[in-house]
Order: sequence, then structure tokens, then C-alpha cells
Amino acid sequence: MPITVKSPREIELMTEAGRILEIVHNELKASLRPGMSTWDIDCLGEEVIRSYHCIPSFLDYNGYPASICVSVNDEVVHGIPSKKRILKEGDIVSLDAGVIYKGYHSDAARTYGIGRITEAAQKLIDVTRECFFQGIKYAKEGNYLFDISGAIGRYAKEHGCGVVRDLCGHGIGTNLHEAPEIPNYEMKRKGVKLKAGMTLAIEPMINAGGWEVDWLDDDWTVVTRDSSLSAHYENTVLITEGEPRLLTLTDADGR
Ligand code: MF3
Ligand code: CO
Repeated sequence: MPITVKSPREIELMTEAGRILEIVHNELKASLRPGMSTWDIDCLGEEVIRSYHCIPSFLDYNGYPASICVSVNDEVVHGIPSKKRILKEGDIVSLDAGVIYKGYHSDAARTYGIGRITEAAQKLIDVTRECFFQGIKYAKEGNYLFDISGAIGRYAKEHGCGVVRDLCGHGIGTNLHEAPEIPNYEMKRKGVKLKAGMTLAIEPMINAGGWEVDWLDDDWTVVTRDSSLSAHYENTVLITEGEPRLLTLTDADGR
């Protein structure tokens, strides 16, 4: 599949999809507390998404059974919300959500600590977020796709973290997953040349330990092989001739 370049009208719709998803994330962040279940997070997320007349894009995507992916501690991504999974002080939790607004997708993830967390856990969350910002320094027309990948991968490595290799970022638009695939590690090739109007979901998945991951028996939940903590940070990004526009992060203070 070719990489789509969005028209001004499409960018308007994706901007709105992104704005709504940012609100969803803000609501979820504000709701987090020890004692709640990961199911509670999914219920609230779906409710907020639908209150903006959007569709939760993950629900039923390839059979995924929920609206929000909730991944705790050594779970990397695609954790399935459950009434039995209760958050406790010291956990870290990655929330990944996507909405469809008038046919256009946005996709974003955040990782938070529950109550007081260890210094090592906070460092992992901060490094993962910073990986994203290192990557998007290169997200500009005329640069190459794998410039982004390399910047993410190098920053994680410099900070002693493992970079998940089995999952990647992706183009996004009328589909949740479009070309191109965006690895979070250094590539030997340059990759495609970036053009204004491309929209990319850039999403480092970073482990405190090794890069290797496994899938649980539910065939969704990805966990670190060495049981080390994992964090995820993602925004939907619009490539321009200048600075990239973060469609799912307009509030400079948002995490
Ligand atoms: N942000 C994830 C991704 O880009 C969300 C997909 S999860 C699924 O792959 F449940 F929808 F599959
Ligand atoms: Co994504």
C-alpha cells in the first residue's frame, strides 16, 4: 500500500480526531487511582469516546475485545481490560486508545505511575516519552523515515533501555494502520522520504530490561520476556514543511 498524503480537508478531520483523543486521555489520566480495575478504565474510555460521537477504533479490531488497551508493568502493549486486574500503588500502566471521527483515525498512548512508583519506573516512563520527542526532531518534509527510527533507538540505548522490535509505529488515516511501518530502532536503510501531509503514529515501546517480548495465551497481551517493566508513548503526528504537528498533543503540558 502506498503512503497517503492527506488533503487539507482530511487534515482538518484528523485534527479533530486527535483533539478528541487528547481529551479522552486527559479524562483517563484524571481517573487513575489504586483499587480501580483495568476494566473501569476501558468503560470510562469508551464512554468518553462515544460522548464525542466517535467510534473506539480498537474495539473489534482483528477481534480485540475492548476500546482501550491497558498494559500493566511488564505488559508492553495490547493488555486486555479485566475486572480482576486491580491497579495498586507502585504499578505503571500504559493506556493506548484510538478514535474514529467522520472516518478518520487518531491513535495515542501514555504511560502513568499509580501513586508512588520507584525511581527506575519513573526513569523508564521519562525515557520512553523522550524517545518520542527525539524521534520527531526528524519528522519533517525532506528527511527520511528511518531518521526518526534511529533517533528513538539511539536514545533508548544510551539510557540502558531495551527497544521492542516486534511491533512498530505506522501510518494512519482512514485506516488505523497504514503504510509505512515505523520501527523504533536504527535501520541500515534510509526509508522513504517524508512529505508534508503524511500522518504517522509514532510509538516507542521501551523496556527497562531486554528487548525481547512474548505473547500471552490470549494472543494479544505482549509482555517482556525478562519480566522487566515496559512503557509506551504515542502520538499521531502530521508531517509539514516545518515543525511536525502533534494531533493528539496540543496541550504542551500533556503527558
Ligand atoms: N496503538 C496500537 C497500534 O497502533 C493499537 C492497536 S491495538 C488493537 O497497534 F487492539 F486495536 F489491535
Ligand atoms: Co498505534
